[in-house]
Amino acid sequence: MSETGTISLDLGPRSYDICVGEGLLAESGRRIAALGHRAPAIVVTDETVAGLHLDTVTRSLEAAGMASRGIVLPPGEGTKDFNGLIRLTDAILDLAPERRSLLVALGGGVIGDIVGFAASAVLRGIDFVQIPTTLLAQVDSSVGGKTGINTRHGKNLIGAFYQPKLVLADTGVLDTLPRRELLAGYAEIAKYGLIDDPAFFAWLEENGQAVIAGDAAARRRAVVTSCRAKAEIVAGDERETGRRALLNFGHTFGHALEAETGFGPDLLHGEAVAIGMVMAFNLSARLGLCAAEDAARARRHLAAVGLPTGLDRLPRSAIDPRALVSHMHQDKKVRDGRVTFILARGIGKAFIAENIDLGDVEALLQDAAAAA
Ligand code: NAD
Ligand code: GLY
Repeated sequence: MSETGTISLDLGPRSYDICVGEGLLAESGRRIAALGHRAPAIVVTDETVAGLHLDTVTRSLEAAGMASRGIVLPPGEGTKDFNGLIRLTDAILDLAPERRSLLVALGGGVIGDIVGFAASAVLRGIDFVQIPTTLLAQVDSSVGGKTGINTRHGKNLIGAFYQPKLVLADTGVLDTLPRRELLAGYAEIAKYGLIDDPAFFAWLEENGQAVIAGDAAARRRAVVTSCRAKAEIVAGDERETGRRALLNFGHTFGHALEAETGFGPDLLHGEAVAIGMVMAFNLSARLGLCAAEDAARARRHLAAVGLPTGLDRLPRSAIDPRALVSHMHQDKKVRDGRVTFILARGIGKAFIAENIDLGDVEALLQDAAAAA
């Protein structure tokens, strides 16, 4: 086992550790047993992750003297809905859990979000642990306690803030992750540099390729730095009444693009965020808020690692500027055609910009669509 970085997320009685390192799956039993739950651990995962990593966790729990039961769900976003929640909670209740039972979410953001939500509701709340296995889940979704499911009204509209007791991010499991999923997670890593850590962004410009190629030390540093940044923001604003909104940098554009592509395989969440961050920078530059060179620098880095930065790879039907702006209308608080966005005054200088004119946003989207 190589070096482990541990970050504490300080939320008073809901505080927890986020451990990052290679080989943590094999150590998960000891670390989970130390939380002191008596009843068997219920490990929930998806079919893909079950085939790759479930045995390691089960054996590790056994070695630490903890019995476990497994629940395996189908992979993909389709699992994260009301039907999936019914299936999952029924399967959990079939195992006759007690208040002191523990759920373990082993998988990407889909598993983390639905298991966290089930944990908040089963027996009015039982403890859960996050073992994120995608890069996106390691640097974003497993930390901070946002849990939930999708409905026909949109993504993540039903859920709860419910913090895990522990996060174990084993960077070694990223070796089995498809490259496209890895890159999508990388967009969220770059986001932390772009919102408030210019030195980290500069480090990523030098080392991003190593992070993606699988260099263990670079990966660990990127995940630790990201989790530390998220932990610091969440500790100060758990329920997103203020600064936590910075974590949505690139997401207003990105979410509209995801909605227009049907949240399907044409565009992964992290890919949408990468395009959205470039658009947020371009809008900032157009409004005279940041230098054009900063916007170009952000785009250059995302493109250099292989992320999409424009609308060119998307179906034409999904990039209609009016339709995209109409999603933003539904998505955010719009007043008199003006909306709140996360914009940037430079690399590492994101801020909450109120009162942005949607006409400016549509003009930007028109230019981006014309260039595609
Ligand atoms: P995902 O959970 O669907 O995982 C992507 C794919 O990778 C799946 O097919 C999965 O089976 C597979 N996989 C997972 N780990 C693997 C591994 N180690 N090796 C090989 N394959 C592996 O997707 P995701 O990108 O991790 O998460 C997306 C979800 O996260 C969305 O539902 C999104 O809404 C949510 N999200 C939540 C938050 C939050 O704060 N709660 C933040 C961002 C995103
Ligand atoms: N992913 C954004 C947040 O957790 O607030």
